[in-house]
Amino acid sequence: MNKTDHAPETTTLKIKAFFESAPPLKDATEIETKLKEFVDRNSSSGNGKANRVVCVTSGGTTVPLEKRCVRYIDNFSSGHRGSASTEYFLKAGYSVIFLYRRGTCQPFCRSLPDDPLLECFTSTDDLSIQVDPSHAEVVKRAIAENRSAVNGGFLLKLPFTTIFEYLQILRMIAVSLRSLGPSAMFYLAAAVSDFYVPWESMTMHKIQSGSGPLDMRLAQVPKMLYVLRNEWAPVAFCISFKLETDTDILLGKADMALKKYKMHMVVANELQTRKEEVIVVTEQEKITVRRDTTQPGADVEDPLIKLVVDRHSAYINA
Ligand code: PMT
Repeated sequence: MNKTDHAPETTTLKIKAFFESAPPLKDATEIETKLKEFVDRNSSSGNGKANRVVCVTSGGTTVPLEKRCVRYIDNFSSGHRGSASTEYFLKAGYSVIFLYRRGTCQPFCRSLPDDPLLECFTSTDDLSIQVDPSHAEVVKRAIAENRSAVNGGFLLKLPFTTIFEYLQILRMIAVSLRSLGPSAMFYLAAAVSDFYVPWESMTMHKIQSGSGPLDMRLAQVPKMLYVLRNEWAPVAFCISFKLETDTDILLGKADMALKKYKMHMVVANELQTRKEEVIVVTEQEKITVRRDTTQPGADVEDPLIKLVVDRHSAYINA
């Protein structure tokens, strides 16, 4: 990568090219309607002030290799970070737009077994199904907390699969949250593809394996952090994540992202230890946040979201 790759005009052109070539979202109108209702509801709470709204992104984006997609490249993310963070943001009084990869971990479902339908329920006779008593408490809590957040208008869930869907929906969210000014926050925990096959150069049908090894050139996905901060939502509080497997380069890369994309915070995490600790990098400091190991089941997201909320408050007051 050379220096000119990051010149704003080049980035803007690449971003334009990305969106122009992306297949249009099938449910764009429905998403727009849901977003409008959600933002309107949160624009003025009881005290006449806007609610704080955070867009939490979660899970990995895919890169299809064929238009009628059989094969794709995937990015690792279970969705645990995003779903746990969503629960703590809701607890802190935020309204949350949860932009998540289909099939990944959901808020309030983290204590359920892997296959809840088969493991939590028993069939008593031909007609009735009951919750197995050993799971009754967690199932009841998950249903109640999810219903209260969704029906109360505090949680909007929007799914994506491909990088094309993810970035188009993220842009729609950013533009619709502009009216909330500094009360809006982006917490970008999704694992976003860095390379993709442009739609116009993608083969329609399944790639055939008979013709030997596959030789494929991938284009670079432009970093959307740049355009998010500069154009889509310039006043929102923005937190990006930096994932590395090599701890020696992690903090350097997080620092670079903070400066290059003008993030308010970058959460640096290493793959193996990501559930134990993260390092929050800001302009002034680097803060290590750890899970409370004296409490069974404690999450690192608990102290992390407290810190984020604290800094967001300072940002709004400033
Ligand atoms: O889901 P879990 O299993 O709990 O794991 C959580 C996590 C490790 C996935 C999460 O904590 C995390 O680190 N997410 C970010 C992973 C990632 O994509 O890192 P990155 O270094 O490739 O990208 C850094 C930032 O740039 C990200 O905030 C991403 O939103 C952004 N990005 C990336 C690519 C791109 N083309 N445009 C972007 O804006």
